[in-house]
Amino acid sequence: MTTTPTTPTTPLSPHPPDSADSADSAGSAGPPSLIATLPGRHYTDPELFRQEQERIFESVWFCAVRGADLDKPGAFRTVRIGRESVVVTRNRAGEPRAFLNVCRHRGARLCLESAGEVRRSLQCPYHAWTYDLDGKLIAAPNLAQLTDVDRTQYGLRPVRLREWLGYVWLCLADEPPSFEETVIGAAVERLGDVAVIDRYGVAGLALGRRISYDVQANWKLIVENFMECYHCATIHPELTDVLPEFADGLAAQYYVGHGAAFGDDIKGFTVDGSAGFAPLDGIGAELDRRYYALTVKPTVFVNLVPDQVILHRMFPLGPDRTVVECDWLYAPEVVASGADLSGSVELFHRVNAQDFAACERTQPAMSSRAYRDGGVLVPSEHHIGAFHQWVREHISSVPKSVANSEPGSEPSSVPSSGACTSASP
Ligand code: FES
Ligand SMILES: [Fe+2]
Repeated sequence: MTTTPTTPTTPLSPHPPDSADSADSAGSAGPPSLIATLPGRHYTDPELFRQEQERIFESVWFCAVRGADLDKPGAFRTVRIGRESVVVTRNRAGEPRAFLNVCRHRGARLCLESAGEVRRSLQCPYHAWTYDLDGKLIAAPNLAQLTDVDRTQYGLRPVRLREWLGYVWLCLADEPPSFEETVIGAAVERLGDVAVIDRYGVAGLALGRRISYDVQANWKLIVENFMECYHCATIHPELTDVLPEFADGLAAQYYVGHGAAFGDDIKGFTVDGSAGFAPLDGIGAELDRRYYALTVKPTVFVNLVPDQVILHRMFPLGPDRTVVECDWLYAPEVVASGADLSGSVELFHRVNAQDFAACERTQPAMSSRAYRDGGVLVPSEHHIGAFHQWVREHISSVPKSVANSEPGSEPSSVPSSGACTSASP
């Protein structure tokens, strides 16, 4: 993807190589204009990816499911977070609930499908232990005869949950980091004030289009790409036509609170600059005809333009594979009207395709001896060093334990394939 530097207002120092990398990058001190990237093995090494699963994806707030995709009690989605599978549903009161997708009897996966619906309970397909939509064990064959069993002790393991921007965010850690600081704080850091993103009313928008991209690249390459615009003039002709300042290589977000202005002859955020839709309610003159973007580490990008919000969720599947789900969100009346969204969707779809092709072009080189010590960041990319430092700090940290989890055998976080085999009694 493109463009979105979460940029510093003050220069960032080059990150020092940590001890694990010092051998890789020994003696590589260069001119101040060029600071080091992570060494290539950070993009290829299965053990480093396992550490990221445990200490990043299973430890921070992870944007899992769009709330509107759970449109009624019993509707569910399964999602992979790190090494875990999680089922997200709504209880009878319509409140979102999330559980580890593991039966408390002998561990069978409850839901195999990526999405589905049950009427009032989740039933394990193995021995038919049955849980209500709050995770409580409510029935099991012969359970009534086991008079010493306190069924309240054998409910599904809950996963902590928050809702923001119309999405359900989950955290597997026993002691989650502050949602306000680590998630909402990203909007404050980028936009200067969370009130700015509130003006777009993201939670009240309707899904106009969703495209899922299966990208053969490490998730960090995709984040790094989104954080800089050095590549915009080279690979994004349509986007730089709409946002001419991107052609200068400094992403719009180089300064806190700055949005990239549309070109003078541009009517809307569309593939050919033709008119889009009316600005969303709440968009005043200062936000009109501007593009803002922010990264919520580790896996979410939010793009804000007057008539739509484009939100990317990444699901890292392996060191060299990442599924990206991109949602185009519009005013509900625009979607309900059946308006032609194609010119609007096509702009960022092309940007996505251009960006992901660049990431896939880069991934094979990560295992080359030429990239053993990594590459370099030019000044307009220096803020990516702060992201690298964030990754280093997380993978070198001692995880605050992962919710009840034994390290699983499955390799990552993705919308699971399959649907719940659970039947509703
Ligand atoms: S594993 Fe036996 S009921 Fe689920
Ligand atoms: Fe890009």
